Amino acid sequence: SASIVSADDSFLQCLSASIPSQLLYTQSSPSYTSVLDAAVRNPKFLTNTTRPVWIITPTNASHVQAAVLCGRRNSVRLRIRSGGHDYEGLSYRSERPEVFAVLDLVNVRSVRVDAQSGTAWVDSGATLGEMYYAIGKAGGQIAFPGGLCPTVGVGGHFSGGGFGMLLRKYGLAADNVIDAVLVDAKGRLLDKNSMGSDVFWAIRGGAGESFGIVLSWKVKLVAVPPTVTVFNIPVTVNKGAIDVLTRWQAVAPALPDDLFIRVLVQGQTASFQSLYLGTCDALLPVMRSRFPELGMNRSDCKEMTWIKSVPYIYLGSSATVEDILNRTISMDTSNKATSDYVRQVIPKDVWTTIFGWLARPNAGLMILDPYGGQIGSVPESATPFPHRGGVLYNIQYMNFWSAGGSGDAQRAWISDFYAFMAPHVSSSPREAYANYRDLDLGENVVGAGGVSGYDAGKVWGEKYFRGNYQRLAMAKGQIDPDDYFRNEQSIPPLVSGK
Ligand code: FDA
Repeated sequence: SASIVSADDSFLQCLSASIPSQLLYTQSSPSYTSVLDAAVRNPKFLTNTTRPVWIITPTNASHVQAAVLCGRRNSVRLRIRSGGHDYEGLSYRSERPEVFAVLDLVNVRSVRVDAQSGTAWVDSGATLGEMYYAIGKAGGQIAFPGGLCPTVGVGGHFSGGGFGMLLRKYGLAADNVIDAVLVDAKGRLLDKNSMGSDVFWAIRGGAGESFGIVLSWKVKLVAVPPTVTVFNIPVTVNKGAIDVLTRWQAVAPALPDDLFIRVLVQGQTASFQSLYLGTCDALLPVMRSRFPELGMNRSDCKEMTWIKSVPYIYLGSSATVEDILNRTISMDTSNKATSDYVRQVIPKDVWTTIFGWLARPNAGLMILDPYGGQIGSVPESATPFPHRGGVLYNIQYMNFWSAGGSGDAQRAWISDFYAFMAPHVSSSPREAYANYRDLDLGENVVGAGGVSGYDAGKVWGEKYFRGNYQRLAMAKGQIDPDDYFRNEQSIPPLVSGK
């Protein structure tokens, strides 16, 4: 009801002129907590943090434009939330004291597939599961190369790159974006042409929250065969995991790009998880000639359609395609993650030491995603995502603790292990994946004029974007020189002539 608008809340009064009051929440609204917590994905961010003063749940572009104009007029910043999976929760909380509003795109989530032209318009508030489901329903042999977890939001995922089991065949989610609708810091509604080529380049992987609010993305769908083959082969250290893993590093990035084999390394087991775009009959000879060390055979194969592989791989063999529409996520554990890129094979003796780290009390896990193929053949400056030719694989480190716990021991394990890994991974800069956000890599410093500093941002920015960081800062300088859209790791503006 309109009664939530108090006389001294001029931001809310401004919003109320353009946005129905049932789409606006203050901290005293009865459903404030349930609306905010609905897309919190890490219980450690439920307490002891700065929460928004307002939540806005727009249903259309005009609401979003009004929110920006009211925000600027009243010096209230917006944090944009699509699926809420940000590893540091920056879409709905602030690390520092700040008065801000969350613009939650949960109601902006339609997916319009045009199977005829092989394209789709996908709203940012849709989940990957909703997107894949709609593509599956459209029939035909079409798919989209994005992440594995169905609850991840399209808005954040595409903004930071986005990769999954199709990355060797089709590259990143962001590589397949061909148009977008953006609301900028002046409240303008822009498309690919009107936002200009530098900004359109920047939003496809370059920390989208720095440039405005992306409402929708037009994507190119990709071709998949009627049958794909999935396998998951766990190998323990006792059964030779160290040798197989050492070999995998050279083999996996050089396989035919129809074949993707990632590794989950946890405890004393390396699990080799694969998606092959073809039948088991076609896969067997490839495995026999290219990777005999794994000892894969026919009984490991599970054949299915691509859409069925989505729940099968992430949710387990009993999950159905409908299950990928489920937006709720278990909140039993908190987690901490970070990432690395490997450009040179790690020697066998180092893997032996790594398995020692994984055997320690409070140890976490590693996920190794092989590159090569299409993701590696795109030039480094073609998109903001620079981890291309020469990368063998991405490492994600993750550790978990029960929701009530402090996580101190688990966080210490990650940071000690990350320090140990330094000589074995990319350096100068030590690369990291923007979508696995980690504030331990560095934070912005807001300087004179209330604008984030370019040099301070380099510390984390060059890890995520290498040589593309400077061009991102110039794009930011064009579209948002006042640094209205910012967080602890947004791109600082670089204004030419300054
Ligand atoms: P969220 O809403 O938290 O947004 C993330 C960031 O993007 C924030 O800074 C936010 O402000 C900004 N943003 C969001 N929507 C925006 C919009 N419309 N316009 C502008 N800025 C916007 N990654 C991957 O590549 N492959 C994978 O398989 C997985 N798997 C995975 C599993 C799980 C369980 C988690 C928690 C995360 C992943 N990820 C991943 C990482 C994921 O891609 C990353 O966290 C995305 O940024 C999440 O996007 P959301 O929209 O959900 O996050």
